[in-house]
Amino acid sequence: MLIVEGTSTSSSSLIKDDVEPSSNLESLLRKNDVLFGGSSIGKGFKTAARNHLKRCHVENKQILDHPDLNLEISPIEDPFYVVDIGVIISQAYQWRLYFPRVEPFYAVKCNPDPVIVKTLAILGCNFDCASDTEIEIVQNVCADLPRTPEIIYANPCKPQKHLIKAIISGVRMVTFDNVSEVRKCALISKKIQLILRIVTDDRGAQCRLSSKFGAPKARWRNLLKAAKDSGLSVVGVSFHVGSGCTDPSKYEMALRDARELFDLAKSDFGFDMKILDIGGGFPGETHSFWNPEVLGTTPVEDEEEKINEHEGLDFAQKVESQDDTPYMFFTEIASKVAPLIDKLFPLDVRVIGEPGRYYVAAAATLVTAIVGSRSNELDEKIFSPEAISDNKASDQINERDHFKKRSTLASKNREARVLESITDELNEHAKHFAKQSYVTHETDAYNDGLDLYKEDFDTAADLLGVPDNTQMLSIMRTVEGMNKNFAVGEGDQGLISLAASGEAAVNGMVLQAVADSVPLQDDFAYYVNDGVYGAFNNLMFDHASVRPRVLRASHCDKPSRKNMELSDLEDETPEKLLYASTVFGPTCDSIDVIARNVLLPKLQIGDWLYFQNMGAYTMAAASSFNGFTPSEKIYVCSIHPEYFKSLIAGPKIAGQHE
Ligand SMILES: Cc1ncc(COP(=O)(O)O)c(C=O)c1O
Repeated sequence: MLIVEGTSTSSSSLIKDDVEPSSNLESLLRKNDVLFGGSSIGKGFKTAARNHLKRCHVENKQILDHPDLNLEISPIEDPFYVVDIGVIISQAYQWRLYFPRVEPFYAVKCNPDPVIVKTLAILGCNFDCASDTEIEIVQNVCADLPRTPEIIYANPCKPQKHLIKAIISGVRMVTFDNVSEVRKCALISKKIQLILRIVTDDRGAQCRLSSKFGAPKARWRNLLKAAKDSGLSVVGVSFHVGSGCTDPSKYEMALRDARELFDLAKSDFGFDMKILDIGGGFPGETHSFWNPEVLGTTPVEDEEEKINEHEGLDFAQKVESQDDTPYMFFTEIASKVAPLIDKLFPLDVRVIGEPGRYYVAAAATLVTAIVGSRSNELDEKIFSPEAISDNKASDQINERDHFKKRSTLASKNREARVLESITDELNEHAKHFAKQSYVTHETDAYNDGLDLYKEDFDTAADLLGVPDNTQMLSIMRTVEGMNKNFAVGEGDQGLISLAASGEAAVNGMVLQAVADSVPLQDDFAYYVNDGVYGAFNNLMFDHASVRPRVLRASHCDKPSRKNMELSDLEDETPEKLLYASTVFGPTCDSIDVIARNVLLPKLQIGDWLYFQNMGAYTMAAASSFNGFTPSEKIYVCSIHPEYFKSLIAGPKIAGQHE
């Protein structure tokens, strides 16, 4: 049960005004049954999983006793998140170390979990809200804290009712990027402090925003004039380089644009801007953590076996460094961005940021149970599961194709680049939708394929067009860290390409799609109990890719399938053979696909799969479609309370950029 006291009406206040923030934090976590001493991917994960399963087991006892049942399987299967508050604490510390001048306003949309919000408030964060409800969440959750966090209403197009409520509740800073919004604001309150959101080149970001928000340079004058004419003051500039941005040059371009706008506002309109809002976008997934010790090392063969080595603050994953275009860590981005801020903006300018995923992405691991499975094996002579060894699999994983980041250095052509970037983004959206509609087509193709398969492979493949030679040779990145040929094999095997490889679209036109007949399916399919209508909505909305990992007995003592007792299972020997597998979500919709062409051992109903980096844009938008309610949360904290005080106090050296 969640106990985050803080409504203004609360009589037995958990948080005391006169106590240290560290004590407030500790009591908040203890009150919410947070398990101390392990991360969401290490010991804490194991303890949390074990406790959860034990509790489910007790709760299920009554069901098990029903006379109509002769259960020989365990009904313990509810999916759950393990949320590590320690990640949030250490990320907050790191932010202060690398961005001493940038005040974080956590983007609540990313994960509005009250324990997370309150933890961040205690750690000194302010908040970026996008609606009246988000404002209410922050104000309720933080009502009993000694410090009232500040809120920026950072949605350039706000419903009037939300804006009115925001003003009544004390919010003043609001972003805008169009004239109608200025007029709306002027009609509602002259107390509003406007912050002009400018458009950015967001190419390369995981989730792009510039085709929807941000004023291009050509509109700046109009907007400043509209504000002036309406009697509102424009107090600053904001931008967002796209969520999940690992290219510091994007921040650089936006900062130079912001500087230009500061100057224009002062010289031509008399606005003395004092706020610079650098938005969010900073990566926060485990592979984006900086850990110099592991740089240059080769990836581990079995990450699961190594998991317990990564406890506490130092649990970054092994980093592959062979790539020419290395992944930019937060620390590298901040090290480039912070000095530029200092160079372009004098100290009397207040610099704020709106990080979301940076704080929470790595904080949650989702654990799902396999509730159904299917083998696509039909006729062994023609199509039998293609086993692949651990070594071969790890080779594939090691060949991981890092997203090529085009480094677009700030130049005089910034405006042109931004426009180009919007066109580019629209194309990306078009591709995304094409991909989604393809998933629908493939179901039909699959059904047709059943008949076509019996006749001739070519007929099935012809259904939507045979891939051409270039496609046959090209490698597709299917899920995080795994590559597979678009289409492989000829002759008897036909095309053993995968349905998901059908992603091919230019300017919204699907040019090529591969039919998904029976032999084109993955060898095995598993159905787990959270999907794209739940936590995995991030596949659609956050353009995320996820990687399922098998939860072994070494991670949690799971109940044996046959008897109902919790037994201490011996560690299972990891399976050596892996098969191309599909992981489906639980709903009756064919779009509910979590991953295709992932290499997994043969699994059965009752086995568990876990997914890391499930803290950002997951539970925030999970629905109850088909009656599958959002997964439960279990909190752990990889940092012991004895360190809270020094971590909250922040880095000893005021910051390396000072
Ligand atoms: C206005 C605004 N600020 C901040 C964020 C958070 O971005 P991120 O999670 O990439 O840090 C978003 C995300 O969409 C946003 O729209």
